[in-house]
Amino acid sequence: MSESNATSALIELQGITRIYRLGSEEVRALRGVDLKVRKGEWVGIVGQSGSGKSTLMNVIGCLDTPSSGEYRLNGRAVAHLSDDELADIRNREIGFVFQTFQLLPRETALANVELPLVYRGLKAKERREKAKLALEKVGLADRMYHRPNELSGGQRQRVAIARALAAEPSLLLADEPTGNLDSATGEEIIRLFEALHDAGHTIVLVTHEPRLAARCPRAVRLSDGRIIADGPGLEVAMQNLRDDPRLAAANAELSARAGG
Ligand SMILES: Nc1ncnc2c1ncn2[C@@H]1O[C@H](COP(=O)(O)OP(=O)(O)OP(=O)(O)O)[C@@H](O)[C@H]1O
Ligand SMILES: [Mg+2]
Repeated sequence: MSESNATSALIELQGITRIYRLGSEEVRALRGVDLKVRKGEWVGIVGQSGSGKSTLMNVIGCLDTPSSGEYRLNGRAVAHLSDDELADIRNREIGFVFQTFQLLPRETALANVELPLVYRGLKAKERREKAKLALEKVGLADRMYHRPNELSGGQRQRVAIARALAAEPSLLLADEPTGNLDSATGEEIIRLFEALHDAGHTIVLVTHEPRLAARCPRAVRLSDGRIIADGPGLEVAMQNLRDDPRLAAANAELSARAGG
């Protein structure tokens, strides 16, 4: 039945490893990751610092190639492509959002969003139209001619999300998209992701924040380069809270008091 409906799998990772070699030392950052993400899914990647989240994002985003394993993106095997071929796939398939926004400070919001469309070879008029549409999508129609320093943190991240969406990628990838935002602004960005998910976008993001992980319909937890949990975001996020040593210590103290 639908398990063999391979056309709907946007990301298919099989036995992915990534070993960094530093002189004679080896760091096994990914130790055999299997993951399928269907079109339209929204998946959060969580895990402690050093567990391999960014390494996995880099592989998924075609910024890096695995040491072994297979990766199919939108039906195409991409694990062993050359740098040029990967760059081409990145431009067409993937929109990136970063913790630090990475906007050009001297350019307007509109010019920032247009930039990736330049690499796509679109004509100026078409670029402008697509960029405006993307800015409208993130609720910034009235801030198009502002420069980054004339925008709030949340608005800057909206511009970055518009830039990622402008070329209509099949996949939106975000590494800690709320990491530099206060909690009210972070909430604004979480709502934007919810709206994008409702509109059918496929989203994969890395987060340290349980409140964001909990809102992802699906989350996976990495530990030491392996996936150790895969389920509804709320469950996967709660698991982390349960395992939090501070919580365990607080619990132990409470039961000791109750017992004594
Ligand atoms: N370029 C590199 N060269 C060597 N080792 C690396 C390199 N990049 C990452 N590593 C190592 O690989 C492991 C996974 O790193 P990664 O950056 O994927 O972790 P992470 O889960 O993103 O952590 P964080 O939450 O701190 O961002 C770590 O042990 C790290 O030290
Ligand atoms: Mg990281």
